[in-house]
Amino acid sequence: MAHLLVTGGAGFIGANFVHFWQARHPGDRVVVLDALTYAGNRASLAAAERLPGFRFVQGDIGERQRVENLLREEAIDTIVNFAAESHVDRSIHGPEVFVEVNVAGTQVLLEAARSVWLAADRPRGEHRFHHVSTDEVYGSLAPDDPPVSERSAYAPNSPYAASKAAADHLVRAYNRTYGLRTLVSNCSNNYGPYQFPEKLIPLCLVRLLAGEPLPIYGDGLNIRDWMHVEDHCRGIELVLEHGRPGETYNLGGDCERNNLETVRLLCRLVDQAFEDDPALGIRFPAAPPVHGQQCRDRIELVDDRPGHDRRYAVDSTKARRELGFEPRLELERGLAATVRWYLDNEPWWRAVMDGSYRTWIDRQYSG
Ligand code: NAD
Ligand code: DAU
Repeated sequence: MAHLLVTGGAGFIGANFVHFWQARHPGDRVVVLDALTYAGNRASLAAAERLPGFRFVQGDIGERQRVENLLREEAIDTIVNFAAESHVDRSIHGPEVFVEVNVAGTQVLLEAARSVWLAADRPRGEHRFHHVSTDEVYGSLAPDDPPVSERSAYAPNSPYAASKAAADHLVRAYNRTYGLRTLVSNCSNNYGPYQFPEKLIPLCLVRLLAGEPLPIYGDGLNIRDWMHVEDHCRGIELVLEHGRPGETYNLGGDCERNNLETVRLLCRLVDQAFEDDPALGIRFPAAPPVHGQQCRDRIELVDDRPGHDRRYAVDSTKARRELGFEPRLELERGLAATVRWYLDNEPWWRAVMDGSYRTWIDRQYSG
C-alpha cells in the first residue's frame, strides 16, 4: 500500500490524477496538499473525499515544517508535485508569484523530502518524488524541427516556462547531489474535466455558451500538441511505477493542431450538442446555435501574446519504449467528452468563475 502526497491536487490535472489513482489503487492512502489559490477548487475533489484513505490539507508547499510534519505523520512514500502557478498569460502580467511557487516552493518540497526520507537514522526505503513538468521548458519549434526529446536543450520563453525549467533543474540536482529518488515528466497541453476556464479550450467553451466572442491570439496558427488529461494521468502512473529514479520522461499527445483547427473542432462539437439536445437552448439562450449561427463565426483574431511560442511537439519515444506509454484518447473523442462534461457540470464552472476571475478576464478581453 502506497502513501501518496499529491500537491496541487485541487487543481485541474491534480484532481483528475486523484480520481484516476483512487479508481486504480483503492487501497492506497492519498493526501492532497493544496493552497487553494484561484485555480484550486475543493469541489473538484468531492468524489475523492467520500472514499476511505483520502485526506485534504489546505497548505502551501513552501511551508517546510508543515510539509515535513505531514510526510512523517502520514508515512508518505510518494510525492507527486502538481502545485504550481500554471497560466502563461498570468506569468506575463505578474511573474513574481511564479518564481515563489514554482521555483522556491518546489525547492522547499525537495528539501522537506530530503530531510525526512534521507535522514541518517532512517532506512532509505522506496520513496519517489515525481515532479510534474511541461513541454514549454524546451521553447518554441520551427515548422520543420523534430519534436523535442529528453535530450533537447531547455529554452523557456515565458516567465512560467522559465520557472518550470528552474524547478526541473533543482529536481535533477537533488537526485544527483543527495540521491533523492526523483522522476520528472514533461507533458504537452492537457484538456478535460475540471480545467479552469482561463485556458484555451474551457475558455472558448464557456464563452460560446454565454454568446461571447472567442479571442484567438495572433494569426491563430500557433501549434500545440494536445493530450486528454486521463492519458497524462496514465503516463504519470507509468513513470511512478516503472520509471528509473533520476530520469526525465517526455509525454506527448501525438496530436499537433494549430489553435484555429482546435477551436473550430470545438465549435463543431458545440453546434452538434445543441442540434442533438434542443433543451440546451433554454439553458444557454445566448449561444450562437440558438440564433441560427455557427459557433465558429464567433472566432476573433486578437493581439498576440508576447513571446508566444509558435509550436510545441513532443517525442515520447523514451516513455513508449521504457514504460509502454501510449496516448489513447483521440482529440475529437476526448473533446466531445469534455464538451459533455462542461454541459453536465455547469454549477462547477459557474462557481469557479467568481469575482476575481471576472476581473482578470474582463481586463484581458475588454474592447
Ligand atoms: P492548475 O493551475 O489547474 O492547478 C494548480 C494547483 O496548484 C491549484 O490547485 C493551486 O491551488 C495549487 N497551488 C498553487 N500554489 C500552491 C502552493 N504554493 N502550495 C500548494 N498548492 C498550490 O494547474 P494544472 O493545469 O492542473 O497543472 C498542474 C501541473 O502540471 C503544473 O505544475 C503545470 O506546470 C503542469 N502541467 C500542466 C499542463 C497543462 O496543460 N495544464 C501540461 C503539462 C504540465
Ligand atoms: O504545453 C503545456 C502547457 O500548456 C502547460 O505547461 C501550461 O500550464 C498550460 O497552461 C498550457 O499552456 P499554453 O499557453 O499552451 O495554454 P493556453 O490554454 O493558455 O493556450 C493554448 C494556446 O491557445 C496558446 O497558443 C495560446 C492560445 N490562446 C490562449 C488563450 C487563453 C488563445 O489564442 N486565446 C486565448 O484566449
